[in-house]
Amino acid sequence: MARKIAAGNWKMNGLGADLAELETLAGRSGDAAEVVICPPATLISRAVAKAGSVAIGGQDCHAAETGAHTGDVSALMLKEAGAGFVITGHSERRADHGESDADVAAKTEAAWAPGLTAIVCIGESLEEREGGRTLEVVGSQLAGSLPAGATPQNTVIAYEPIWAIGTGKVPSLEEIAEVHAFMREKLSARFEGGAEMALLYGGSVKPGNAAEIFGVPHVNGALVGGASLKASDFGGIIDALNAA
Ligand code: PGA
Repeated sequence: MARKIAAGNWKMNGLGADLAELETLAGRSGDAAEVVICPPATLISRAVAKAGSVAIGGQDCHAAETGAHTGDVSALMLKEAGAGFVITGHSERRADHGESDADVAAKTEAAWAPGLTAIVCIGESLEEREGGRTLEVVGSQLAGSLPAGATPQNTVIAYEPIWAIGTGKVPSLEEIAEVHAFMREKLSARFEGGAEMALLYGGSVKPGNAAEIFGVPHVNGALVGGASLKASDFGGIIDALNAA
């Protein structure tokens, strides 16, 4: 059985006062799903102190452990700050910072070194989807972004179609099912633990559409942007995952 994970990505949102949302989530009990919040790096230490059973993650890490990389954060620094997870290869990093699959694989491997679980993101653009290239793109990103040592413990995959992120547009359940079944097949063929690796869907997940998305085979949770900023919205998504 794959882990069930509801992960929230605050992106470049969140000041100290917003930790009140995390405190509300920390007051939950009995969740079957693992709950993860990835606040901006500036809030990680304070978030850890308030998180209770909610795990805290970073949104990116550098591939190196230390060095002359102004502005970057290493996986070891995230770990020391109390993080248990880190997102690698989010499409906004790939677009804004030119990260390639090879960069994402290096960051993922770096995440594992101090014991972080990497949430590795992949997903096609609208042009690629309309050109009928979704599975080709997802397949090559999956192959290129995952180092050989991926296990269900150290790696979670997030399928996030770029055109669904922050747009309110969501693929049909059939489209999600097709990609998730494809990823499961590829992961099972390549990795011993591929059948158990958690596969998250991301892109405009809201409390109102979460239950139907979690009903799709091989969807083991979600990576949530906008709807993770308010505990009331994210709580509804966690409830739906608990029930799935
Ligand atoms: P969204 O973002 O939920 O706001 O669409 C998802 C993501 O980028 O992880």
